[in-house]
Amino acid sequence: MLAESPVESFSFAGREIFLKRDDLLHPAFSGNKARKFAYFLDHEFVGISKVIGHGSAQANSLYSLSALAKLKGWQCDFYVDHIASHILKLPTGNYAAAIANGTHVIDLSSLIGANPSLQREPGWTCQDYIEQQVLPTEPNALFIPEGGRCQYAEYGVSQLAADIETWAMQRGMTDLKVFLPAGTGTTALFLNQYFVRKQLDIRVLTCAVVGGDEYLTKQFSLLNSNLAEHPQILNVGKKYHFGKLYPEFYAMWQQLSASGVQFELLYDPLGFIVLEDYLRREKTSPILYIHQGGLLGNETMLPRYRRKFGRVGER
Ligand SMILES: Cc1ncc(COP(=O)(O)O)c(C=O)c1O
Repeated sequence: MLAESPVESFSFAGREIFLKRDDLLHPAFSGNKARKFAYFLDHEFVGISKVIGHGSAQANSLYSLSALAKLKGWQCDFYVDHIASHILKLPTGNYAAAIANGTHVIDLSSLIGANPSLQREPGWTCQDYIEQQVLPTEPNALFIPEGGRCQYAEYGVSQLAADIETWAMQRGMTDLKVFLPAGTGTTALFLNQYFVRKQLDIRVLTCAVVGGDEYLTKQFSLLNSNLAEHPQILNVGKKYHFGKLYPEFYAMWQQLSASGVQFELLYDPLGFIVLEDYLRREKTSPILYIHQGGLLGNETMLPRYRRKFGRVGER
C-alpha cells in the first residue's frame, strides 16, 4: 500500500499554486505509473511469477514495471519495437534502471529478424505479438497493456483522488482545479470520474501531450463513455510532436528548475505552458498541479536538450 504523497506550495507565473508531489510517493515506485500499477502491488496473484509489458525502451513504464516486479518477486519481460543503438551502447535512464532490476527487454525487430517464421503482418503491433505468440505459452504471466491504460488503473488513481479530496476538505477549499498533462489520459480520466461521482467541488483540467484533443477524447471514451465524467481539455494552441525537442519546452523546464523542483521533460513543460495560459484567464480558483514523476527519463532527455540548445539558463 502506498503512503500519502505531500502537497507543497509552489510559486508559478506570479501565483501560488499547490503541487502534489507524487514523484515522492515511494523511492522505487513513484509517480503516475505507481498509481496505475498500485492494484497489482496491493493484490495477491496466485500462480503468477512473471509480468509482461510493452512500450518504448525509454518509457517510464518500463522502469516502473521492473520496480513492481522486483517488489512482487516476479520476473519481468518487456517487449519493445526496437532499441536505439545509442541506448544499447550506453544504457541510461529508465532502460538502464530496468535492466539493473533484472528486467528482460526483448527487442521484437531483432527477434523477428533472427526467426523468419515469425513473419510480421502489416499493422501488427507489439501487443498483437504478445497476445498471439507469447501469452499462450506463458500461463504464469500477467500482461499489463502499454502505459497501464486499463481499468485496473482506476484503483490506484482513485486513491490519489481520495487523498486530494481529504486534503481539500481539511482546508475547506472550494472550486479546486486539479491540473495534470495527459498522455493516454488514463490518470486524468479516473481522477475526474472520482470527483464527479462523489459530487465534489473538484474538477480536473488537462492538456493533450500525445496526439491532439480529439485523440485524447477518444482515449477517455475507451475507458468511460459518459462525456459528463471526462476531464476538461485545455487546448494547446499549437501542434507539438510527442518526444520532439522544442526550445519553449526547455525554457519552461529551466524556469521550473530555478524554483527548486525538478520536473520531467516530456509532459511537464507543455503542461506548465498550458497552465500559464489558463492562469492568465482564470484568477480565482485554487490550482493543484500533480507532479507525476518520470524523472529518470531526464537522464536521456536532458543530454538531448543540452546537445541541441546548450546549457543556457540552467542553474
Ligand atoms: C511523467 C508522466 N506524466 C504524464 C503521463 C501521462 O499519463 P496518462 O497516460 O495517464 O495520461 C505519463 C505517462 O504515463 C508520465 O510518465
